[in-house]
Amino acid sequence: MNLIFEESHKGHRCTEFPKIDLPVYQLKSKLRSAPAELPEVSECELIRHYTKASEYTFGVDSGFYPLGSCTMKYNPKVNEATASFAGFTDVHPLQPESTVQGCLEVMYELKENLKEITGMDEFGLQPSAGAHGEFTGMCLIKTYHESRNDLKRKKIIVPDSAHGTNPASAHMCGFDVISIPSVNGIVDLKELDAVLDDTTAGLMLTNPNTLGLYDSGILDITKKVHEAGGLCYYDGANLNAIMGISRPGDMGFDIVHLNLHKTFSTPHGGGGPGAGAVGCKEFLSSFLPAPIVEKYHDRYMLTVPEHSIGKVRTFHGNFSVLIRALTYLMILGREGVKETSMNAVLNANYLMSLLNDVYPSAYNAACMHEFVLSLEKMKQQTGVTALDIAKRMIDYEMHPPTMYFPMIVHEALMFEPTETESIDTLKHVSDVMHCIYEEARNSNPDLSQAPYTTEYSRPDEVSAARHTILKYEHH
Ligand SMILES: Cc1ncc(COP(=O)(O)O)c(C=O)c1O
Repeated sequence: MNLIFEESHKGHRCTEFPKIDLPVYQLKSKLRSAPAELPEVSECELIRHYTKASEYTFGVDSGFYPLGSCTMKYNPKVNEATASFAGFTDVHPLQPESTVQGCLEVMYELKENLKEITGMDEFGLQPSAGAHGEFTGMCLIKTYHESRNDLKRKKIIVPDSAHGTNPASAHMCGFDVISIPSVNGIVDLKELDAVLDDTTAGLMLTNPNTLGLYDSGILDITKKVHEAGGLCYYDGANLNAIMGISRPGDMGFDIVHLNLHKTFSTPHGGGGPGAGAVGCKEFLSSFLPAPIVEKYHDRYMLTVPEHSIGKVRTFHGNFSVLIRALTYLMILGREGVKETSMNAVLNANYLMSLLNDVYPSAYNAACMHEFVLSLEKMKQQTGVTALDIAKRMIDYEMHPPTMYFPMIVHEALMFEPTETESIDTLKHVSDVMHCIYEEARNSNPDLSQAPYTTEYSRPDEVSAARHTILKYEHH
């Protein structure tokens, strides 16, 4: 496909400005020395170009998108309508609080809802993503221990099934990351005991974990960490499985981040937009990043917690994501929130059971909102890999699932269908996956060359990531 610059034809225009009928002043000193190099295209050419470009992309509005751990659920369009109300878009973050009471109310109501859903006592809405929330949470743990002059606590314990951002966030905050092996996909208490001591600053955990398994020993885990003097951090990126049903606060966690863009529906991917709201128990709330929205009588205001770690981004967080999250919650209501999670779990278990005759799960257990298949046996028998299967799905107009993660599973494919898919879609997915299985067995077509239907088949992803070319060069 051409760039819009390559579509340019001299003299083509979208708009003609009316002739000037006012006196003209020449701002000579401000004039460009040469005209700007802009593409010259008609409105029709412009629209066709961008429509074609949009058809090369794939999103949740185009088709099935089971990218495990990323919760690519359908995002209701009503969220976009509320997020674009002029009262929200035409404000400036430096306006006096008295003139933006409605915006502050949105933030306050959202925070109150999140407190109830997670069992936390206070929430800050500043962080821009899940990983940013994790880093903020790590800063809270560090500041808490420092405030008690308990300076030897340098260790953060992270199970080996954790999302890669967990160890990265802890490390960035200056902690030593201690990885503990999972047994049958969940935390082994003996392994935990072996690393807990008076240098433990805390534990980072997601429940259900990235294998889609709920750790029913969670109360013992958090108790042990607390007894050792550490704090418990909950990675809430998997809240889609449990919201309205069980709460991190009741599991014994002290801090939580939520991926509002995932669980509470904002179109996301490719780096944004996101919001990684961070909640905590009362004894940590004075450390939260500033500002926090408070309500005094009928007025909303922004406050700075007494021992705040400071700001973790500019202004008040990714406000338009916050509006979408509140819209989503208000439309679902208390029962709807719970039903959403129940359907997410039901859909995942249904799809898993449809696939398991030919694609075995990594762990023989009921799953939560996502499940992980292991194609190790298939690779041994046919030479076809998880990558080949994932790539072939593109030819059937489906986004591939997450591949080769969690790293403790060989030839992993991680599916998260989400609650927004219908039973018919799930049956269709199963039919396609069975068809691909037969193709793999018969080596017809050669799946190592899939996809066959895209403009580029298998770009060199490593080179693309390591040697990025960020500007267009005409060849
Ligand atoms: C379990 C888990 N933790 C953390 C994150 C990081 O979230 P973000 O991509 O918003 O930084 C993700 C992202 O998908 C995740 O799945």
